[in-house]
Amino acid sequence: MVEPVDGILAAHNAFRRDMEQIDAAALEAARGREGLTATIERFRFLNEVLDWHAKGEEMAIFPAIEKVAPLVAEAYEKDHRGLDVAFAELSDSYAAHDPLRIARATAASRFHLAMHLDKEDAHLYRIFRERIPLPEQGMVMGKMSAHIPQERFPDVVMWMMPLIGHQDRENITRIWQMVLPPPAFARVKEIIKKAIGSDWNELTRRIPTL
Ligand SMILES: [Fe+2]
Repeated sequence: MVEPVDGILAAHNAFRRDMEQIDAAALEAARGREGLTATIERFRFLNEVLDWHAKGEEMAIFPAIEKVAPLVAEAYEKDHRGLDVAFAELSDSYAAHDPLRIARATAASRFHLAMHLDKEDAHLYRIFRERIPLPEQGMVMGKMSAHIPQERFPDVVMWMMPLIGHQDRENITRIWQMVLPPPAFARVKEIIKKAIGSDWNELTRRIPTL
């Protein structure tokens, strides 16, 4: 059965994939290849989503972890501030139109983000899963997702779905199906359909109630 944390892990995989593609494009652009601006510019939206995600973790997840594993979350908050610095450098180098500096900044962001997410998945969210009762996990997740501005939620769905695999898509769709009011879920369903194109068949095979 899908658990609240599975939604977080799906988002983490979307962050990884997006960052890898942006970094690969920045490297190619620094080598002189043209036509990669749209891919590299995705860092802006990625940064926005990361910011909501980090704030949600800091306001909801970390205090819950603090109660069952004191002093653990502090290190992850430091990581978040490191991400802020890395993305500020990326933003500055992009504004300066300096391809080499941009590629260095995307590489630094990718490396730091991957390390951070790997640690969260293997350690922080393991503590969350093992030590926090399931109903409380659900409540904490609800609090966390409130940090996404409602009017931007469709953009987040549109961004996330193409970046993740079938299993993550199934998990996150099941979670939305459970927590969203039916009219809201109906709208999300249409966005998912648009976002994943012909993969929709696979998703409905996995979730026949769609
Ligand atoms: Fe985090």
